[in-house]
This record gives sequence, structure tokens and C-alpha cells, in this order.
Amino acid sequence: MDLNALLSEEGRIDPPALYARLHRAGDAVAVDGGVQGYAVAVHGFDAVAQVLKDSRFRQLDAAYLDLTTPQWRRHPALWMLRESMFFTDGPVHDRVRQMIGGAFTARRVNAMEDAVAALTDRLLDRLAELAADGPVEFMGEFAYLLPSSVMAQMLGVPQEDLAWFRPRVLAIGAILELDGGTWRNMVRADTAARELSAYFTELVAKRRQDPRDDLISLLAAEDLSDEGLVANLITTFNAGFVTTTHLLGNGLTMLLERPELRAGLTAGNVASYVDEMIRFEPPVQILVRWAPQDADVQGLPVMAGEAVLVMIGAANRDPARFADPDRFDPTRPDAGSLSFGLGPHYCLGAALSRLEGQVAFPALFERFPKLALAEQVSGAPKPLILRGHDTLAVSCHG
Ligand code: HEM
Repeated sequence: MDLNALLSEEGRIDPPALYARLHRAGDAVAVDGGVQGYAVAVHGFDAVAQVLKDSRFRQLDAAYLDLTTPQWRRHPALWMLRESMFFTDGPVHDRVRQMIGGAFTARRVNAMEDAVAALTDRLLDRLAELAADGPVEFMGEFAYLLPSSVMAQMLGVPQEDLAWFRPRVLAIGAILELDGGTWRNMVRADTAARELSAYFTELVAKRRQDPRDDLISLLAAEDLSDEGLVANLITTFNAGFVTTTHLLGNGLTMLLERPELRAGLTAGNVASYVDEMIRFEPPVQILVRWAPQDADVQGLPVMAGEAVLVMIGAANRDPARFADPDRFDPTRPDAGSLSFGLGPHYCLGAALSRLEGQVAFPALFERFPKLALAEQVSGAPKPLILRGHDTLAVSCHG
């Protein structure tokens, strides 16, 4: 595969068209061209699952950056990401994951349902107020605010600080894109990382003095270095909503563009709708792993130090796994997807984001039965790693 095809405007406008071509070529292809260092792109459902569970392949950790980007420690953003559980493997990862995972178990998440419903209602009230003046910007006024408010409540971040977070979180997200590590993006992400670290360091100190019933207080009492604690708080907080924001934006667009889908949505089937949205338009399309030793994927060589593009968005459209994969079908008997990853880094927030979607979509249509797009959705190219709309104008009349 020519990586440029994926990173081209066309690839970023319509990745499923490229995915269909990839599936005709088997389960994995050698990568040529484009960004250096990627040896193989793996896209077959079972082959992707295998790589994510294979301990020969690791997250893009500090050892990888030492090889590829020797100056990386000078960048607070890269340093912060590498301190977090996202980009570590082995015992350190397992220990931190267990600590933080305890806050997101199915039981704890279920207990959040009333809180999610209450936050949703409050945001819908605000949408109703804003709607008096014309179309409303759904991404900023709802899709961002719901998941970030939920995460803020769980972690113990004051709600009034959320507006401050958004540009900083977006700046960190930008460098995660495959070709996002430009000088300009890095400068912004480094500034954001410095500011976010200072913010959380102060909050941790406050909670140590005056603990509350929240995740920051719980973790502040654990045996974790201060840098590790702050890095994990920032990344978990960010991960908790950059993705769910896009689930809400992508899912709503699908429903508003296709009246027959929207007509079929009920409180009884919303869980299947949300799961199918997550399969069909995953907020994260691609994961990346690297091989510290020579390895192979489906017989294709990956030399020590090279990386693998793990195409979860393509796996979700694999015709060998899903009948008619390019059809949105919430009743499909072969439901399931790799949108939350798999294996040791499987998303800790899967249950929480599902819950948010299941609460939000019915509530939106109940409050605004005539909810509609206020303008045509932009067909501009979108990122692949955190894929969704920047803005989405909707009209919320009665
Ligand atoms: C629709 C929403 C979401 C999607 C599509 C999503 C997707 C993912 C994916 C694909 C991974 C695996 C990364 C990898 O293997 O390289 C992941 C990991 C993770 N997600 Fe999510 N996520 C979502 C929501 C959330 C939420 C609400 C939280 C809040 C707690 C969260 C927290 C995490 C954490 C902490 C990890 C890292 C786990 C580890 O490294 O062991 N995510 N997510």
C-alpha cells in the first residue's frame, strides 16, 4: 500500500473506499512511500486482533522514540504521553492500569447513569436557550461538554475549568495524527502539556490536603511518582472525551442525514445503534505498534525498530467478518468491532462512552423532535486518528 493514498485528501475524506481496496489485497500489506518507518499495514479483522494481542508488538514507547526521535525528551508533550499507561507496556503498565481501571468498572459506570442523564438534561436546557438565537454549534455546546463534564465529575476537575481545557486537549490530540508531528503542532502541544501539567499538579496537591470522593484523591494516595500521576490524569482525562465527543458528533450526523435510521431509533434499541455507530464511524481509525525485535505480520517482515499500522477502522469493514460491511445496520447479528482496541490496552472507557451515547441520543430527540442539520456537513478531509467534525451546526427547534 502506498501510505500517501491513506494520508491524501481523498484518503482522509473517504477512508472506507481505501479499506475496501485493501481487503481485496488480503489481510495485511507492505507499506511503501509516505511517512517513514511503517513496514506493514494490517487491516483484516482477525489479523488486527492478533497483532493487538501479540507481545512482540509494543506501543510507541520511550525506547521507540529513543531510536527514532532522539531529541524527544525535550518535548513536554511527548514526555507526558510516554509517562502514561497508553505508551508503556509490561508490569508498569499493568500496575497503573489496575489502579485507574478500578474507577471505570461496569459497576462504577452503571452507577454513573443518573449523573450522565442529569448532565445531559442540563446541556439540553442550554441548547434550548441558545436555539432561540438560531443554529447551535453542536460539537462545542454538547458533544464536547457532555463527556468532559462526566470525566470532570469522576476525576474531580471543577466544571468551570472545562472551557479552558478544550484548546489544550485539541493541541495534544493534533500530534497523535500520523503526520501530525509538525513543528507548529509540537510547539502548541508542548505549551498545552506544560499548562495541563501545572494545572493537575496543583489539583493533586489540593486533594492531598483535602481528599474528596473522586479519582484524583484516590490516585493521589497511591504509590505513583508525581510525574506519572499527572501524566496519567491528563491522558485519561483527554481520552475520556476527545473520542466520545466524536462518537456523539459522528453518530448524530448519521442519524440526521438518514431519516430512516433516526425513525427506527428507540430507547429499546439504542445500545445496538451506538455499537453500530462505533463500528461504522470509529473515532479512532488507526493504532500503531512497533517491533523491538525482527517480527512479521501475516508473513510480511517487520524489522527491529519498524512500526505497524493497525487499521481498526478497516478491520471494522472486513467483509470476511461482517456481512455487507459498508451498510449501517443496528440489527446485524454479527455485531462487534475493534473500535476500542483489544488486548492489554483495551479501552478503559468503553462502557462509559457507550453509556453516554445511550443516554444522549434518545434524550436529544425527545427534547428536540425536529432536530436537524442547519447546513450541509463539511466534506473536508478529516484526521484519521481522532476522526470527527470540528464543528456541526444544528437547528434545535421544538
Ligand atoms: C467512543 C469512545 C472511545 C473510543 C473509540 C476509545 C478508543 C480507545 C482505543 C482504540 C484504545 C486503545 C489504544 C491502543 O491500544 O493503542 C483506548 C484506550 C484507552 N481508553 Fe479509550 N476510547 C473511548 C472512550 C474512552 C473513555 C470515555 C475513557 C475514559 C476513561 C477512555 C480511556 C482510555 C484509556 C485510559 C485507554 C488506555 C488503556 C491502556 O493503555 O491500557 N476511553 N481507547
